[in-house]
Amino acid sequence: MRGRFLVVEGPDGSGKTTQYRRLSDLARANGLEVCEVREPGGTRIGERVRDILLDTDHEEMALRTEMMLYMASRAQLVAEKLKPCLDRGALVLADRYVTSTLVYQGRAGGLPRDEIMDVAKAACGDVWPDLVLMYDVDEQTAASRLNPLLDRMESKGSAFHAKVRQGYLDEARDEPSYNVVIDASADPETVYARTLDALEARLT
Ligand code: TMP
Repeated sequence: MRGRFLVVEGPDGSGKTTQYRRLSDLARANGLEVCEVREPGGTRIGERVRDILLDTDHEEMALRTEMMLYMASRAQLVAEKLKPCLDRGALVLADRYVTSTLVYQGRAGGLPRDEIMDVAKAACGDVWPDLVLMYDVDEQTAASRLNPLLDRMESKGSAFHAKVRQGYLDEARDEPSYNVVIDASADPETVYARTLDALEARLT
């Protein structure tokens, strides 16, 4: 796993962050240097961009502004953390990456995929994940796992979140080489076992 880049993805409330923590603990316990990052954010500048993106006061934010702010946060993350970590052979674990933009602003939001990929190439260069673990869960379960104080993205309503879930499944179907869908409706222990199975099947 040295020098590998793994991403956890999924709708809000999918439980991806719990799995991310467990993976990170496992890798550290096995002596790996782990570089943990979350998006949007993960750097001092990126965390400020995150605040702008998730502020419920910013109702008027245009879709392209939103997409470019996510990418701006990511460009900073790539330069400041991801590239240096990968270059020195650390395992990079990311909580969301380009797939989130392809799904939230693309498949659910309506921006064309090519447009997002052009900006992604400018922001990320060749820093691309080895594997994206997508945690899939039905909307009711996802909603029940959320903090009741919803941020701007979480407040977009159930029709949008249904499109997000379907968007992930469609993205995995269209890009099977680096995406794997994990059924995350079960308890965290079972989902963790499925995560380890997926890693073994796809990375060894
Ligand atoms: P988080 O709750 O996993 O920290 O993610 C913050 C929110 O931002 C979440 O609702 C997903 C959304 N998001 C996008 O819409 N596009 C993106 O590119 C990323 C990284 C996150």
